[in-house]
Amino acid sequence: MSETRRGRRLSRLPARALRGALAAVAAAALAVPLAAPAQADTPLRELADARDFEIGAALGAGYLSGDARFADLAATQFNAATAENAMKWDTVQPSRGQFNWRDADAFMDFAAANDQTVRGHTLVWHSQLPSWVSNGGFGAAELRGIMESHIDAVAGRYAGRVAYWDVVNEPFNDDGSWRNSVFYNTLGEGFVADALRMAAEADPNAELYLNDYNIEGINAKSNAYYELARDLLAQGVPLDGIGMQAHLINGQVPADLQRNIQRFADLGLDVAITELDVRIPMPADQNELQQQARDYRAVLDACLAVDRCIGVTVWGIVDRYSWVPDVFPGQGAPLIYFDDYTPKPSYYAIQEALGGPGGPGPGPDPEPGACEVDYTVQNQWSTGFTGQVAFTHNGASALSGWELSWSWPSGQRVSSGWSGTWAQSGSTVTVSNAAWNGAVPAGGTVTVGFNATHSGGNTAPTAFTLNGQACTAV
Ligand code: G3I
Repeated sequence: MSETRRGRRLSRLPARALRGALAAVAAAALAVPLAAPAQADTPLRELADARDFEIGAALGAGYLSGDARFADLAATQFNAATAENAMKWDTVQPSRGQFNWRDADAFMDFAAANDQTVRGHTLVWHSQLPSWVSNGGFGAAELRGIMESHIDAVAGRYAGRVAYWDVVNEPFNDDGSWRNSVFYNTLGEGFVADALRMAAEADPNAELYLNDYNIEGINAKSNAYYELARDLLAQGVPLDGIGMQAHLINGQVPADLQRNIQRFADLGLDVAITELDVRIPMPADQNELQQQARDYRAVLDACLAVDRCIGVTVWGIVDRYSWVPDVFPGQGAPLIYFDDYTPKPSYYAIQEALGGPGGPGPGPDPEPGACEVDYTVQNQWSTGFTGQVAFTHNGASALSGWELSWSWPSGQRVSSGWSGTWAQSGSTVTVSNAAWNGAVPAGGTVTVGFNATHSGGNTAPTAFTLNGQACTAV
């Protein structure tokens, strides 16, 4: 079977396809011979739609309802959506037979209102499982019945509106052995096939996935999936795809990602990158943000290169709401918008991968600016930090006075500074020369320092100017 991305989407999502087809007819009627080039502010979803690709985000219920800027980005930038927590077992069925649909329904309504393809997440998972299931001490028949009624209730409620279900989440350990969970321990490995069959029964139209982390490269864990997928398909179990979560470490995109995606595609499965984020030791500096952008680009490119890789979902939108710092203390900034909701280099990397213009994001050899700036956090504690900024003047003639400026993305404030005259207005910091260091020869370097406060996030600035002209961050 070699359906294209479009073929699959059309066959599975008639309502969306119909809307798309009508729009295409209307567009064709108005078409001019040359496609207009994408504008710098072309939303990701528009670029993705043009390639029949899905660009999704995990949407937290509280952020959707409580943060208008988050909701606006969710709606305008993404053509696909996953509920970050709202469809998990502990949320929808916290007690046996008692269902709470509030957040899941709100998420589904949001996705429908914004014409987004929905990935349901997740039906059977050892985590975020209420204790009445995990500690219940049920025998196999009863637990299978509990699993079936849960799947039936959740997948059944949204049948026809969910394009993909992560039916079973994270059933393997990193070494490829089965993870101890109440499901595996009570039902054996057959719980995976059972869950897939139950999901197909509850929603015959949804594409059914297994989903996990650390399976982006070819390794023991992804090999276990490969074997399992092959066995399930041979038995006629309804399995349609593999979700590679892609919770990555900066600079560590597996070199064989595309090859790994391809081998699952060659089994006749679709693949989706379901939870992409790239974590950085905090505070993130300019070089790390550029590396992160290259990593995002590499993941997008690998998926786009394989026809059956249907899309990429980012696990959140704005750094401030990421799960990463809670689980990996000292690490963060894994997403595509800074804490102040401005796009990061990683955002532009996605934009460029999808055929857009890109932005000030990745680029191996940026043109030298008016100066080169080296911004360093020398010491950091829970509420403050000490930093140093060294700029090298690139111009051909000497300066007889200077003003260096940047904008802090996450609410930092200067409390004292040295080797210059310091001022801050909003997020914008300006340092001008002290009486003794205004004269800077061509190629000369000046170093200034400061103490500042922060309130949790301490993202490094991404752009600097010297006497009003843009500099290059190094
Ligand atoms: O809702 C409660 C709130 O009432 C309480 O006051 C608060 C106090 O900690 O906790 C809230 O629940 C938190 C929940 O997120 C909703 O915010 C949980 O503690 C917290 O553990 C939970 O974390 C989620 C995590 O899954 C749980 O394992 C993250 O938001 C979510 O991003 C993360 O997502 C997982 C995917 O589902 C599967 N793959 C890995 C990925 C990252 O861990």
